Amino acid sequence: MGARRVSVHGEWSSRLAFVLAATGSAVGLGNIWKFPYMAGENGGGAFVLVYLLCVACVGVPVMMAEVLLGRRGRRNPLETMATLAREEGRSAHWRWLGGMGIVAAFLILSFYSVIAGWTLAYVFRTAGGVFDGATATTVNRVFAALVADPERLLAWHTIFMGMTMIVVARGVRGGLERAVRFLMPALFVLLIVLVGYALNSGRFDEGLRFLFAPDFGRLTAAVVLAAVGQAFFSLSLGMGAIMIYGSYLPHGASIARTSMTVAAADTAVALLAGLAIFPILFAEGLHPDQGPSLIFKALPLAFGHMPGGAFFGTLFFVLLVFAAWTSAISLLEPPVTWLVENRGMSRVRATVWAGVVTWLLGLCTVFSFNLWSGWRPLAAVPGFAAKGVFDIIDFFGSDVLLPLGGLLISVFAGWVMARASSAEELGLGESPGYRVWRFLVRYVTPAGIGAVFLFRLKDALAS
Ligand code: PFF
Repeated sequence: MGARRVSVHGEWSSRLAFVLAATGSAVGLGNIWKFPYMAGENGGGAFVLVYLLCVACVGVPVMMAEVLLGRRGRRNPLETMATLAREEGRSAHWRWLGGMGIVAAFLILSFYSVIAGWTLAYVFRTAGGVFDGATATTVNRVFAALVADPERLLAWHTIFMGMTMIVVARGVRGGLERAVRFLMPALFVLLIVLVGYALNSGRFDEGLRFLFAPDFGRLTAAVVLAAVGQAFFSLSLGMGAIMIYGSYLPHGASIARTSMTVAAADTAVALLAGLAIFPILFAEGLHPDQGPSLIFKALPLAFGHMPGGAFFGTLFFVLLVFAAWTSAISLLEPPVTWLVENRGMSRVRATVWAGVVTWLLGLCTVFSFNLWSGWRPLAAVPGFAAKGVFDIIDFFGSDVLLPLGGLLISVFAGWVMARASSAEELGLGESPGYRVWRFLVRYVTPAGIGAVFLFRLKDALAS
């Protein structure tokens, strides 16, 4: 029955197109901006190790589950969950899992676009030679000036949302599929060039040690939760983006192989970004725990001292913009498909609606770096005393909704859906591979994420 369903939005032209698009979704700011600063804040090696485990044991099985649900349902996440639940004779309330994904997509895209706006701004700063021969003080000053100015942040946020809306409005296949074919390999090559630079002029050994020598003393429940959240964020899981991309996947393409390829590419990019950034950071005497501004300070500093730095720096930020762009498109896609399918809107109209709502929500992030920078809206809540508006949106989107979405997706795929249905859709039969997957989504993923939530709750209440 699932085999006959088709998506009203069309299909990818091939399995490769899906791999590129899903990699385009997965590889983004999460890999190049967030992963290094999360690793920096959470003690390096121990975080990286937990992260790799999370990708292998939780990320890949959940990604397979999401793609399989998407391809079987062939609708927006809300409708896909409703259809599949009905088909399995289960409660229609499962649709709210899809709805939660759509809300998470809104939340995450709202701040994602603001940060992507910073990368746009940095394209022009690097090209203009602002960082030539820069010192740590200069890069700090340039960054502080950018985020302190709400008008400038607003302008870049608006431009980036506009870019995202244009592609989504034109349809997935026409705009996105063509773009990712060039952009993803190009980003890979450039990262390797940067790692080469770090190898020669930075303190590569120190960077390697920081990333790969775990200090288990730093392994707390908070670090584990951060790693799970980051794995979900980086792989674009738990919110219907991969589900919607799965709904455009042609039948016959191997879900297991494609998911593993996407996860491997995503992880490789995150590690390469770490290898490019930390040695440079240490060579310049900077600390790795600077939070969200890390990439906007360490890299410009390096480019400022590199032969041809203005050129490579510009290219790097351009490609970072494209990486963010292909991710942002996948975040706008679930709400848009919902508006088209359930509200009967045209794709263009749906894109404008979803885009404008996200843009408005993005204002919270814009202001949280300047006008509202001292505001701690949840100061009275244990664990939230130090969190600003951006931190709170990021926390609920990345650390709560995404893992929760992933947890429920695995419960659905592992427990609610009949064994025959998932085996059929994965096309693995009763092979050992299928059994491993089923074991992981039935036991490992829910238990792992559940335990992390409990620890986190305890942590938050104790602080
Ligand atoms: N995976 C993207 C990144 O690492 O930047 C972010 C993202 C995109 C998260 C799409 C979730 C999503 F649905």
